[in-house]
Amino acid sequence: MPKLAGSKKATQFTESVIREMTRLNQQYGGVNLSQGFPDFPAPSAVKEAACAAIRADVNQYAVTWGTRGLRDAIAADFEKRHGVHVVPDEQVTVCCGATEAMMATMMAVIDPGDEVVIFEPFYENYGPDAILSGATPRYVTLKEPRGPRAVWAFDPDELAEAFNERTKAIILNTPNNPTGKVFTRDELETIAALCRKWDRLAISDEIYEHIIYDGNAHVPIASIEGMADRTVTINSLSKTYSVTGWRVGWAISPPPLTGAIRKVHDFLTVGAAAPLQEAGIAALSVPEAYYKELAESYRRRRDRLVEILERHGFTCYEPGGAYYVMTDIRTFGFSSDVEFARYLVKEIGVAAVPGSSFYRDAAGGTTKLRFCFCKCDETLAEADKRLAKLTQTIRM
Ligand SMILES: Cc1ncc(COP(=O)(O)O)c(C=O)c1O
Repeated sequence: MPKLAGSKKATQFTESVIREMTRLNQQYGGVNLSQGFPDFPAPSAVKEAACAAIRADVNQYAVTWGTRGLRDAIAADFEKRHGVHVVPDEQVTVCCGATEAMMATMMAVIDPGDEVVIFEPFYENYGPDAILSGATPRYVTLKEPRGPRAVWAFDPDELAEAFNERTKAIILNTPNNPTGKVFTRDELETIAALCRKWDRLAISDEIYEHIIYDGNAHVPIASIEGMADRTVTINSLSKTYSVTGWRVGWAISPPPLTGAIRKVHDFLTVGAAAPLQEAGIAALSVPEAYYKELAESYRRRRDRLVEILERHGFTCYEPGGAYYVMTDIRTFGFSSDVEFARYLVKEIGVAAVPGSSFYRDAAGGTTKLRFCFCKCDETLAEADKRLAKLTQTIRM
């Protein structure tokens, strides 16, 4: 037998716990409230545009960094919404989802030994992204809310201490997965001041920009003074148009970085699916009412899931944006989040994500589970029914 082994890099991170929970859920036939993909249809106009593109034989490689039409639409949308001028030819790279846009950006800007500042809890991809790009992560804690009106918050002094001469970039995600935190303008000003002071980059994942509640406003850090020239903004069709399987996302970068990002992207994937890029143009031109209804429908789902979870004994951290609820599971008396998540999927038939997968040190998240609510009413009703079994079993 040949001696086969994965690389040192590949041994430093585990398989995605989120995707593992989805597979376990399929095995046990549960209700999947783990991986964040909608179980309802994408907008018809967007689907029709994809079908029309395939019928019109848009079947071959698109321009590596994205079709002109989609890059123009991305630049125009960002400028219209946020007042930041974007030159499509010099700043936009279309990738295979925000996932690849983040990976391509990090591989393009990071040298081994560079540090990146990451807020914790974090979207689980950022850990492996750092390892694969050679970055050393410096984590800054988002402290959990204490009290009914409180929100997840960072200590500005702790953030300031995380910056040093080795820092290359800060990775930001607002609205945030998993906490649902929407960074305020003041908080972004604090982050921006550090980026300016140290002459560093912000890499900002804004994939939930339209999924936002309670009068919160999405502020892209690129729109803060002095930040357009030092921010890579990452976004995607996945969440806004309910097409997570299409794999079309993008990076908007300062012109001096775009060439490096495009080169890495080219050799990673060549390009995103050509007909789906055509559909992306249709997506970015849906009427404004679509976004209002999207946010409102998610607000209703959020309220429903929070009510269900609280009724079944969970303590919820109510999100101000994105489509996840972090919960505190201490009252259930399980020894860990992973044990409880496995029990939930196998015995109760509901999949959620163990909180530890969002922390560098598992201990940070062992009292938490994350549920998603990008699901139709019937799915949430079924989860409700199954969770009733949980409280009955625990009470026995
Ligand atoms: C914060 C965040 N970024 C990126 C992604 C993945 O985006 P995409 O489907 O565009 O690769 C997700 C998916 O859950 C996410 O939560």
